[in-house]
Amino acid sequence: MSESTSGASSRRMASSTAAPAPAPGPATAEPAAPASPPGPATAEPAAPAPPPGSATTEPAAPRAGWRDFVRLIAETKPPRGLSAAALTLSLLATVAGLVVPLATKQFIDGFSLSRLTGGHIALLAVFFLLQAAGGAYSSYLLARIGQHVVARLRERLWRKLMALPVPYYDRHQTGETVSRMTSDTLVVRGLITDHLVGFVTGLISAAGALVLLLLLDWRMTLILLVAIPLLAGIMVPLGIRMNRIAKATQDETAGFSGHLNNVVSEVRLVKASGAEQRELREGLAGIRRLQALGVREGATGALVGPSISLTIMTMLVVIIGYGGVRVSSGAITAGDLVAFILYLMQIILPLSQVAVFFTQFNKAMGATERINGMLAEPEERFEEGLELARADRPIVAEGLSFGYAGGEPILKDLGFTLQPGQVTAIVGPSGGGKTTLFSLLERYYEPTSGRLLLGGQPIGSYSLASWRARIGYVAQESPLMAGTIRDNMTYGIEREPSAEELREAARLAYADEFIDALPDGYDTQVGERGIKLSGGQRQRIGIARALLRAPDLLLLDEATSALDSQSEIVVQQALGNLMEGRTTVVIAHRLSTVVDADQILFVEKGRITGRGTHEELLASHALYREFAERQLRTPAAPG
Ligand SMILES: Nc1ncnc2c1ncn2[C@@H]1O[C@H](COP(=O)(O)OP(=O)(O)OP(=O)(O)O)[C@@H](O)[C@H]1O
Ligand SMILES: [Mg+2]
Repeated sequence: MSESTSGASSRRMASSTAAPAPAPGPATAEPAAPASPPGPATAEPAAPAPPPGSATTEPAAPRAGWRDFVRLIAETKPPRGLSAAALTLSLLATVAGLVVPLATKQFIDGFSLSRLTGGHIALLAVFFLLQAAGGAYSSYLLARIGQHVVARLRERLWRKLMALPVPYYDRHQTGETVSRMTSDTLVVRGLITDHLVGFVTGLISAAGALVLLLLLDWRMTLILLVAIPLLAGIMVPLGIRMNRIAKATQDETAGFSGHLNNVVSEVRLVKASGAEQRELREGLAGIRRLQALGVREGATGALVGPSISLTIMTMLVVIIGYGGVRVSSGAITAGDLVAFILYLMQIILPLSQVAVFFTQFNKAMGATERINGMLAEPEERFEEGLELARADRPIVAEGLSFGYAGGEPILKDLGFTLQPGQVTAIVGPSGGGKTTLFSLLERYYEPTSGRLLLGGQPIGSYSLASWRARIGYVAQESPLMAGTIRDNMTYGIEREPSAEELREAARLAYADEFIDALPDGYDTQVGERGIKLSGGQRQRIGIARALLRAPDLLLLDEATSALDSQSEIVVQQALGNLMEGRTTVVIAHRLSTVVDADQILFVEKGRITGRGTHEELLASHALYREFAERQLRTPAAPG
């Protein structure tokens, strides 16, 4: 189903004059919203194993009400002219719809050719056309307004996503964040375009029809009114049931697609672990559960149509029977009877939409709540603070402590100085907090206590944008973006580097040879997350990118996984080129790196337990000596 066309059908149902076909069950009125997001409460346990301690639970946000919904929509500034026009047209079409039965009555009662004037026919035609054209055009306008709302909401969310700090991404699963952008915005739009206006005009037309019915023949109307509580007695429980199933389906779909996402993106792990059978079972179980829910939804939905047509048929029989008697007794005219039947439709059809409307309404409130929750998250302020032109002064840590999300302290009271132009190697057992220290230097997180200073000035006083622009970070896994090698080398660089610059960076990163050997050279697609390149190649692209950024402070997280010795040597040489003349902090896993370093910090369980050169530490620090012998790699000497 397309995003833009699903509005017309259900809206039209509510406002059309005489559509004797039973209303479609609520199931079919649903806009195609893929995999509705899991709220924090219903989210699957995070399968791609976020680091322990990162899964802090969200405080339960207060449930969004219609006021929040209205505010959210108002903030997208829907075009006023269009909205007014759409509303006016809808109302006009509704009023025209109310006039049509009356006009028909005139037409029928005057039904003898002699008295049938052209004016009569023209008038009726005008009302028909007004109703149809008004309905169509207002549908179109509503679709435009709906698209405006979705686009503005998505823009806001996207801006938000780009400004959200790293801790937000620690707390939330990718799929959850993505569905906020894609499906929640659609649900919000769906309520406006497909349901809200249709519901309101439907109620107006029902109320109008009721008044006109009473005027036409109050006795017959009162008899018919008995049927309304009857219909409500059927529709309300059905609606509640539909609502419950819809919610269960939403949660199940969210869990299912989250699971699917994890399995598909980690298919290599699945295969390497021989977990195909297990995943197959789990996937199939999810599919079956969705099927069962779908069947239940179908069963409930199947009752809706027949209930409505049964009510309509019963009423028709009663009206035609009783009305026929009154026509033949001369109490009412044949035209009255026809008008009566037509008005009846205008009452029943909107009423049958009530259940659908409330299901959609609840969904939209849920979506509003989730969107508002995300919009309320604090942002990083990129531009705020001093502009940092160069970061070529000493960087000092004083009493630096940090724990993720207020959890266990990971870094405890660190103190060190990074001299400009020098290389500091950080070594220590896995999980000691080395990468965490880099995250603090990148200002992904704020220290819990203590400070980081650049030339005596807290680094927090510089604008994030200018601070990070001075840093080149080559991460442990050398992540790449889908795109070409050129895209990846120039990623985040605003200016367009010349072809020579690009080649030079690739040469210094020892990446030029393998790039030239690729059939498409710099235009080679690297695949999702750079999957089509080897680990060593990815690292060298990462190094080339860092070279192009020409940073003052270089953060290198050497890969923990060993490359083959040949690749290891070229990566090592590339890193050597990169470090030249820069303040460098390197998390070292290679002996050659620590031997050449100006100072080494030995980080254990969040504390610095040893510092000095390789020789000094070998002599003074027992654990370092053991670590250097057992853990640091010694690639064959470059030949
Ligand atoms: N985003 C995060 N949220 C919560 N805890 C985290 C997060 N990242 C890391 N940790 C925890 O912080 C501790 C230090 O992790 P860190 O990645 O800094 O270790 P490391 O010294 O770099 O280890 P390795 O040598 O294995 O790379 C670990 O206990 C880890 O579980
Ligand atoms: Mg690490």
